[in-house]
Amino acid sequence: MTKTSKTGGTAGESRTNDEVWIVGATGRVGRGVTARLAAQGLTVVPVGRSRERMVAAGAEAGLPRNAKVVVADSAERIADEIARERPRVVVNTMGAYAATAPVIARACMPGGHYVDQANDVAAVQGLLALHDEAVRAGSTLVTGAGFGVLATEAVVAKLCEGRPTPHRVRVDAVASVGVEAGVLGVALATGLVDMLTAGGRRYENGRLVTSRLGADPQQLAFPGGESAKSGGAASGDLVAAHAMSGAPFVTATSALVPTAPLVRALLPLLGRLLSIPAVGRFAVDRLGRVTAKAAPRPRKHSWGHAVIEWADGTRHEGWLRAGDGMDFTADVTATVTELLARGVGSPGVWTPAAAFGPDLATTAGGTFVLD
Ligand SMILES: NC(=O)c1ccc[n+]([C@@H]2O[C@H](COP(=O)([O-])OP(=O)(O)OC[C@H]3O[C@@H](n4cnc5c(N)ncnc54)[C@H](OP(=O)(O)O)[C@@H]3O)[C@@H](O)[C@H]2O)c1
Repeated sequence: MTKTSKTGGTAGESRTNDEVWIVGATGRVGRGVTARLAAQGLTVVPVGRSRERMVAAGAEAGLPRNAKVVVADSAERIADEIARERPRVVVNTMGAYAATAPVIARACMPGGHYVDQANDVAAVQGLLALHDEAVRAGSTLVTGAGFGVLATEAVVAKLCEGRPTPHRVRVDAVASVGVEAGVLGVALATGLVDMLTAGGRRYENGRLVTSRLGADPQQLAFPGGESAKSGGAASGDLVAAHAMSGAPFVTATSALVPTAPLVRALLPLLGRLLSIPAVGRFAVDRLGRVTAKAAPRPRKHSWGHAVIEWADGTRHEGWLRAGDGMDFTADVTATVTELLARGVGSPGVWTPAAAFGPDLATTAGGTFVLD
């Protein structure tokens, strides 16, 4: 049924077809990525659990009504379909990445490529651990291809370019996102519950150690006048900032973490409660069904920020300015996917700027403001 062509040119080369599969094509990121790639003329195949909803979402995104869709309702079943049909690139937007990413990414190997928007420590580290396997398989796997990780990773890369290894790095991620009317969804609910149960992390003397969620609260004043608060989080941004800079001391904050003193004081208790599996599942289920009203994004811009300090006291600071955080995420994933579909990218597992350089962030519509 599908045309078969050769990709790659590496030791792990294998035959893949020319399709780009979008797992979660009915979701917010999936719809945005489908529309962008369909407009570029790529052969896009929605993958998900409802044929009807995928056909409707695909038509809205510019795919023909009779376009191929793949129906599968779990990472394992999706992996089976990938292994059978061998798409060139798989975009995973189904969330719960610590569990789904390794299953789907492994199915792409050998020779196929993979991209997701994971932004928690467990998921990003879990995928990075497949690096040697991916190199042998000739597959390029990119994790964190969204506002998180790229918005901060790109600034760290820019500020460290041509300079010695810094001593200390702090990154801050402040996404501004318009709310769509409808249910919050299981993917987002899982991400929020995971953030609360994971608690905080930071790098100390090069080692990843536990810290308090919401530690080191920041009041950030953005170039141009807007401001926001953020608190310490265990994010993919943290892992990427450490890998990109090599600094022994690294912290990361996010505006998603509550900073009000009373709420911050309650976060550890809430995290412990949600780590009880039945309570966590209940919370994801309930939160996923919450219906939100449409609302404009709270600030005009989303911001990634990095402050880098060297042992001799030198300090540099920089920002990446983007528009809506969800739109930027879809732009980043679509840009990465196009590059992978063209065979650009070295085999292995990478965060986005590590794979394609910091200017990927400007290709995806961001603007650097560096000191
Ligand atoms: N790194 C970043 O900056 C960034 C930015 C935005 C989002 N994200 C993350 O990206 C993920 C997607 O976000 P989103 O807002 O697009 O979520 P969403 O709107 O809830 O979409 C999730 C998609 O996955 C599908 N799905 C869920 N479980 C599935 C299963 N078992 N089998 C098959 N399909 C399944 C859903 O299908 P149904 O329609 O059938 O439910 C839906 O199409 C989330 O994890 C989110 O946290 C990261």
